[in-house]
Amino acid sequence: MTVVHPTRGYADVLVGLQYGDEGKAKIIDLLAPDYDIVARFNGGANAGHTIDTPQGRVVLQQVPCAIFQPGTLLYIGSGCAVNLWKLVAELDQIAAHGVDLTGRLHVSDRAAVVQPVHLIVDERNSAGIGTTKNGMGPCYADRAYRMRGGARTNLQLRDVLADPAGTVAAMRAAAEAELAASGGDTAAAHRDLEERLTSFAACVERVRGYVQPRRTWLAEQVGAGARVLFEGAQSMMLDVVHGDQPYVTASHTVPAYAYVGGDLPPRFHRYTIGVAKAVMSRVGNGPFPSELGAERSAAYFAQAVSTGRGRAEEHAEFDVQLLRASTDELELGIAMRMLTHEYGSGTGRPRRIGILDLEQLREMVVAVGVDVVYLNKVDCLSLYGETMFNGIPVRVPATAEHGATRVLPSFSAAQLDAARPDELPLELLEFRSFVEREIGVPVIGFGMGPQRDQITQFFRLGEYAH
Ligand code: IMP
Repeated sequence: MTVVHPTRGYADVLVGLQYGDEGKAKIIDLLAPDYDIVARFNGGANAGHTIDTPQGRVVLQQVPCAIFQPGTLLYIGSGCAVNLWKLVAELDQIAAHGVDLTGRLHVSDRAAVVQPVHLIVDERNSAGIGTTKNGMGPCYADRAYRMRGGARTNLQLRDVLADPAGTVAAMRAAAEAELAASGGDTAAAHRDLEERLTSFAACVERVRGYVQPRRTWLAEQVGAGARVLFEGAQSMMLDVVHGDQPYVTASHTVPAYAYVGGDLPPRFHRYTIGVAKAVMSRVGNGPFPSELGAERSAAYFAQAVSTGRGRAEEHAEFDVQLLRASTDELELGIAMRMLTHEYGSGTGRPRRIGILDLEQLREMVVAVGVDVVYLNKVDCLSLYGETMFNGIPVRVPATAEHGATRVLPSFSAAQLDAARPDELPLELLEFRSFVEREIGVPVIGFGMGPQRDQITQFFRLGEYAH
């Protein structure tokens, strides 16, 4: 018997393919009008999207993008780790922009709640991995622990809603035990803890109305015709298993996880959309095969983090054009960072810079099943023209004939005024074909500038048949 679903909707999953910060939010902005629901399925406040509006800046860490699209529903799935203090701050920011999320935002009641003890432990251990100190590792670890010393370790939103006072007591006990055991038992630590615990009950009440107790909610919406865009946080190279342990985030970032942490059956899946960046970056420690300056760059980054050296210091110290003309890859990397503004959006800390790694990109595209790729920061490739590469460097699998770095013909910034695909410089169209041959899937669009509308789209998603 054939089952027909005349009104059935579908879900597409958008993920970053490298080390995060590929400009996913810009692509989500572009695509969101074609969806009824934008949903998160992993991570928490370790993600960050900055949206500039005429009324000022909004920084979203946990609420899915698309807040300014009134008809769109927003979902935070059970795979996320929710920081209620930060969520309330986000809701306040959003409300200050006149946006009412009542009835629009739904948060799974099974999402894990970030507790003070998670923040304390992550703060203490952050240096080795270079975490964002949002408690992700300890929170997901406690979810897997379930119980320790006779006490529950994982609190889901549903537990917190059912007994706010009881959860505050449990959170206090866990945090105090940790502070005592780790010697972090200072007056400041206790003050900070008390502040969090005192404000917790009010945060719970503020969020209560958004909590979705029905695990079938999203499936029902899609079953009735809703179109979902899953917004992956972090990226493929930071997946807890598929990235390079231990330099990864604590959750799964791969698209298949949307159908676990996003509370939707996989039967609704349509496309997987990947986002990559033509000039790569990585924050945090760990392997980065195409890094300009290799280990020296990694060491420079580690020192910059420990000494608080960032955007301001680099711009004060270096002559960017001199560095750009250098034959030292580390120096070129610094110049590319300065010219392409690769600093943490909140912290200003430098990001490590690398050339486009097509070998790695292909591996991830095949491993996680990507249908189409958006490539951001393509305009920045023109900067390589007047460097020692004298063209666009890319990393490819080494063969007997050539090494791992190939250099493709460059184009100049002056050639880039055209936003239309048929008016792009020939070198850029050839670059697109080269990338497609190397990674094996179509490049659907190029990000050509910092503005959200500077995207050259080669075809629309619905025109692609797999
Ligand atoms: P955590 O997710 O805070 O535990 O950090 C683990 C690693 O993932 C660190 O290297 C972070 O810098 C990195 N990371 C986490 N979230 C993001 C992100 O949104 N963009 C880029 N890197 C991230």
